[in-house]
Amino acid sequence: MMFLKLLILTLSVVVQVFSDKITFKNVEISLYSHNRFLATKNVINNNNLVVVLNQFDRPYDVVKIKGQNIPVLYKNSFSHIHLHDLTIDDCDLEKIEIGAFDNVQKLIYLTITNTKLTELERGVFYGLPLFSLNLQSNGIKNVENGAFQGMDSLKKISLGVNDIRIIKNGIFTNLSTLEELDLSENEIEEIENDSFKNMKNLSVLTLEDNKIEKLQNGIFDTLSKLRLLNLGLNNIGEIENYVFNDLENLEILWLQKNKLKTLEKDAFVGLIKLKQLYLSYNEIDTLEPGCFVGLNLLTELHLNNNRIKMVVKGVFNLPSLNVLWLNDNEISVTEIGAFGVSEMRELDLGSNNLRHLKRHAFSNLSLKWLYLHLNNLETIEDSTFENSKITNINLRNNSLTNLSKNVFKNADVSFIYIGNNDAFDKSTLKKVSNPSPSEIHSDELKLAQGGVMYLKHYKLAKNVFIDV
Ligand SMILES: *[C@@H]1O[C@H](CO)[C@@H](O)[C@H](O)[C@H]1NC(C)=O
Ligand SMILES: *[C@@H]1O[C@H](CO)[C@@H](O)[C@H](O)[C@H]1NC(C)=O
Ligand SMILES: *[C@@H]1O[C@H](CO)[C@@H](O)[C@H](O)[C@H]1NC(C)=O
Ligand SMILES: *[C@@H]1O[C@H](CO)[C@@H](O)[C@H](O)[C@H]1NC(C)=O
Ligand SMILES: *[C@@H]1O[C@H](CO)[C@@H](O)[C@H](O)[C@H]1NC(C)=O
Ligand SMILES: *[C@@H]1O[C@H](CO)[C@@H](O)[C@H](O)[C@H]1NC(C)=O
Repeated sequence: MMFLKLLILTLSVVVQVFSDKITFKNVEISLYSHNRFLATKNVINNNNLVVVLNQFDRPYDVVKIKGQNIPVLYKNSFSHIHLHDLTIDDCDLEKIEIGAFDNVQKLIYLTITNTKLTELERGVFYGLPLFSLNLQSNGIKNVENGAFQGMDSLKKISLGVNDIRIIKNGIFTNLSTLEELDLSENEIEEIENDSFKNMKNLSVLTLEDNKIEKLQNGIFDTLSKLRLLNLGLNNIGEIENYVFNDLENLEILWLQKNKLKTLEKDAFVGLIKLKQLYLSYNEIDTLEPGCFVGLNLLTELHLNNNRIKMVVKGVFNLPSLNVLWLNDNEISVTEIGAFGVSEMRELDLGSNNLRHLKRHAFSNLSLKWLYLHLNNLETIEDSTFENSKITNINLRNNSLTNLSKNVFKNADVSFIYIGNNDAFDKSTLKKVSNPSPSEIHSDELKLAQGGVMYLKHYKLAKNVFIDV
């Protein structure tokens, strides 16, 4: 009997030592308490961390396993552990067995980063009381339907910098506690139509830097709490009407660095709380009238670095618009009234193809900053800025040879930047006598004699000439 007991004991030890199913073989584990380093423990040969850590006499709440050889987390590896925060970083981890985290009661933060993990099986985190699950920078390709199920407190999942190609229905569907989902820097080409259904508390969704070509109508339906949606740096070529229709709380939408060509009427309808819209670095050449209709709270619109050729009247009829970036396009025509927006403070039309500014082109605007640098401006007609509140105008790097003082008639301009125009090559400058500040008398723009300005930079409000 005694012998049998001994044999069984010996056998079990032998089984433990030689079994493949041992998670921790010579693994160094660091313990922390309230972010303060306490000690490292070398776990020689064990499948359950709690056995080793129970021998430690001081309280700890954080465990970090970094730079270790730990290819598989076997079933029960972490069972009964009393941790707040567990990090596995820069390890050769390839697989997490179902049940590795069974009976873990207090874990709030779980971080598994920079490993060789390629797959998340259904139920792998089942029952964890996590608040945040960080799985960034692994090689995750396949996430099984239901991989995130059974976590009733989960608010945040980070899956950035992985190799996910398709978001299937059921991976995230119905995760109603989730508030933030980061899927940036994957290979996502396809998002199935129910993927985000019933994520009722989702507030931030990041899909930046993927390969999404198309947004199917309905995929964002039911995301009524979404505030931030990042779709930048994808291959989106088209926005179907009403695709954003349900996003009644969206405040910021990033769509920069995509392949959008045309913005159709009603493209953004439904985004009644949108404040910032980023459409820079697309291939947009046409803004159809009504494409921004309904964006009544929009304050910032970024359309720079596109191929827009013309700005028609009414397209920016946005009552709250404050900042409009249209620089680095191919705009040669702006219709009068195109910028007739009462709240607008800043309009950037730099680096376009404007040659002439017509009378009243910028009349009656409450703008403060107007950028017109790096165009091909040759002439600016009298009264172009009449009754506007523009204080700063940048006219650098154009082809202006002279500016009549009547251009600024009844305007409130304080700063005009006019360097690098044709008038200012060295030979022209020599011809012009250097006007002295005393020639400018008051705020009513009496520039040089004859109403002709050949200066590089005038600070006009205080009538101080700055030679730059
Ligand atoms: C989501 O929940 C609905 C309603 O409870 C259910 O009918 C549907 O099957 C669930 N979908 C998934 C993918 O779990
Ligand atoms: C959604 O968020 C609200 C407020 O943060 C919270 O009270 C509610 O319990 C959350 N709902 C779910 C299903 O988690
Ligand atoms: C969602 O996609 C499935 C499979 O492609 C299709 O059968 C279903 O009709 C789609 N549902 C909607 C609402 O488009
Ligand atoms: C500017 O406002 C004046 C007075 O309200 C108006 O007569 C004029 O037509 C407006 N000009 C432009 C270009 O809108
Ligand atoms: C502006 O003009 C100056 C002088 O012609 C030139 O050196 C400079 O490169 C121009 N700036 C840009 C951004 O093209
Ligand atoms: C300045 O330009 C206007 C046209 O905008 C032209 O009528 C005028 O003769 C020019 N003056 C000089 C000194 O070149």
